[in-house]
Amino acid sequence: MKDLKFNRHRRLRGSANIRAMVRETGLHKEDFIYPIFVVEGENIKHEISSMPNVFHFSMDRLGEELDEVVDLGIPSVILFGVPNDKDAVGSQAYHDHAITQEAIRFAKERHPDLVVIADTCLCQYTDHGHCGVIEEGVILNDESLDLLARTAVSQAKAGADIIAPSNMMDGFVTAIRYGLDEAGFQHIPIMSYSVKYASAYYGPFREAAHSTPQFGDRKTYQMDPANRLEALREAASDVEEGADYLMVKPALSYLDVIREVRDNFDLPIVAYNVSGEYAMVKAAALNGWVDEEKIVLETLLSMKRAGADIILTYHAKDAVRWLEGK
Ligand code: PBG
Ligand code: ZN
Repeated sequence: MKDLKFNRHRRLRGSANIRAMVRETGLHKEDFIYPIFVVEGENIKHEISSMPNVFHFSMDRLGEELDEVVDLGIPSVILFGVPNDKDAVGSQAYHDHAITQEAIRFAKERHPDLVVIADTCLCQYTDHGHCGVIEEGVILNDESLDLLARTAVSQAKAGADIIAPSNMMDGFVTAIRYGLDEAGFQHIPIMSYSVKYASAYYGPFREAAHSTPQFGDRKTYQMDPANRLEALREAASDVEEGADYLMVKPALSYLDVIREVRDNFDLPIVAYNVSGEYAMVKAAALNGWVDEEKIVLETLLSMKRAGADIILTYHAKDAVRWLEGK
């Protein structure tokens, strides 16, 4: 043994304290953004069937959810408004008193320090369920940009702290930045869904947001899961257009992409741990097949290790409880 050369990595794993001293990444409550779905109506708190423990809230029940998030010390929420009335041009997306705007207003009034993020897209608001306007079955890029900019401005007017455009039209960051600046919201940052793949992992969300496309799919605007270099081009153009944060979505099957974006850009990186990723873990956990706490924390940690600074996740409340032993 004396003459054999081998390395003793285990020296740094000898005890809990030694491991803690050399730990390279960690999870903190400040890392998280918690998503909340808001619907019209009264006294509604309905569980979304494919997302156990995630609910639709009507405005009069939203307070209890926001209070819980704030009490846990989670600094931020992203609000998804689900309107009853939809039309071809998504009018409810940019109406100053529509569901999302009212929810933003309510959240900021109740908790002025909570960072309220607005998802800016048209698919929840259009009757065809696409993220842009349509003519003869074709998504019109530039015509959609005007509506997205109007949506962002109306969300900023309602009090949103951050605008998070998720639509994947070309030029959406420029259009929204320009719209916000013109309306006097130069100080409002854009958290761009820069690298967003056309993914089957959005299934449960589309059930929750009633935003399934009524024809075709989103492959002409969301990215092909086979592509890595394209992610760098998407991120580069959003940086050029003035994005303040870059998001990669989904997260778990795209950890390599998170790492690429981290290594190539110096903006804060957000990983979106999407609905389908949540649903898979919950299903296995509810069957007793995996240890939910350990699986979730390991999964979220992998996103930090891949280079994410912030994680948008439906697990946020549970994760904080586990991290803090609550
Ligand atoms: C809307 C939007 C989607 C998600 C966030 N914003 C769905 C989609 O693009 O089809 C997905 C989030 C999730 O699955 O948790 N553009
Ligand atoms: Zn959309």
